[in-house]
Amino acid sequence: MTVTKHGAHGAGTEPVDVQDPRLSRFDIVREGARRDDIEIVTYESQFEGTNSKAEKRVVRNIALLFVISGLAATAFVVFYIVWPWEFKLGHAINDYYTPVLGISLGISLLALGFAILAWAKKLLPHEVSIQDRHNSPSSDDDRLIAGQTLAYVADELGVQRRPLLKGAIALGMAPLGVAAAAPLIGGLIQNPHKDDEPMMYRTGFDPVPNHGKPVRLTREDGTPIRPEDVSVGGQITVFPGVPGGATNHYADSPTLLIHLRADDAEKARTAADSDAVNKGAMWGNYVAYSKICTHAGCPASLYEQQTNRLLCPCHQSQFIITDNARPIFGPASRRLPALPLDVDAEGFFVAASDYREAIGPDFWERP
Ligand code: FES
Repeated sequence: MTVTKHGAHGAGTEPVDVQDPRLSRFDIVREGARRDDIEIVTYESQFEGTNSKAEKRVVRNIALLFVISGLAATAFVVFYIVWPWEFKLGHAINDYYTPVLGISLGISLLALGFAILAWAKKLLPHEVSIQDRHNSPSSDDDRLIAGQTLAYVADELGVQRRPLLKGAIALGMAPLGVAAAAPLIGGLIQNPHKDDEPMMYRTGFDPVPNHGKPVRLTREDGTPIRPEDVSVGGQITVFPGVPGGATNHYADSPTLLIHLRADDAEKARTAADSDAVNKGAMWGNYVAYSKICTHAGCPASLYEQQTNRLLCPCHQSQFIITDNARPIFGPASRRLPALPLDVDAEGFFVAASDYREAIGPDFWERP
């Protein structure tokens, strides 16, 4: 038997037996509320008797919302698994991968939200309570009563006596749980480039779609660049010299072409040639690095000529250009990929090949 004391925070109060059969749970709830200086003024069901026609209709509607939520969450999981997601140039069904996921998950959450709202507004009894504020902590018996109050609330929610709602909740919540877990688990186990050439190695500088011809480095307006166009210590943003090379179709391709001073170039060449991936990537005193920050993909383009540091404005990562664009400060943990340089027969810069590492904040493709 659990006996509690009546009165503010248990001091000088009448004992209350929470298991006294003469007391209904609501009596205990009301008593508990009084001890917390809450007076329940009105507490009445929204329906005439239990299981009335009106109540059944509300229960059906809420159940329907839970079922819709479950179906939409199931659709999310199915789309997540079967819908083709790889990015392809031009319009393709792949373009709808993200919207389809967003819409299905949105419908699921919306239906769940409406179900909970409708439950609270239409099914739960109407209650008006008045509460005084107090600052001291609750006594032990107040806490016991609070436990009974929660049990009472669970009864009032009426899940036990409304099997339709119980089933609908199970139907709605289980798929929603799976939908929440799917991207987490899928992201951990699915290698997007398994058995495949790594997609993210391909940028606009890839010579293969350019009929095997090396792709020129161009300005934003598409004009090609000669070495003498970039002064010593200077830098210029370049794009692949292919149709649409400076557009979003080649959003992974913007590159910073830097003309290093002779002594800095010497340092950079020693570092590049001692690295298996960057070996031979420089041309003369020129070096080119991807502008896509390896932290979160912002354009890293604040080049500090005196220190040879490239700064990313988003989260302040800094890359040291004379050491294979190694990150030396900030959240980026991987260097910027170098674009191998060459000059064609007409004296214009070209990419000797596509990037040899994946661009940006990837992880599957990194050695
Ligand atoms: S995106 Fe460059 S530091 Fe975060």
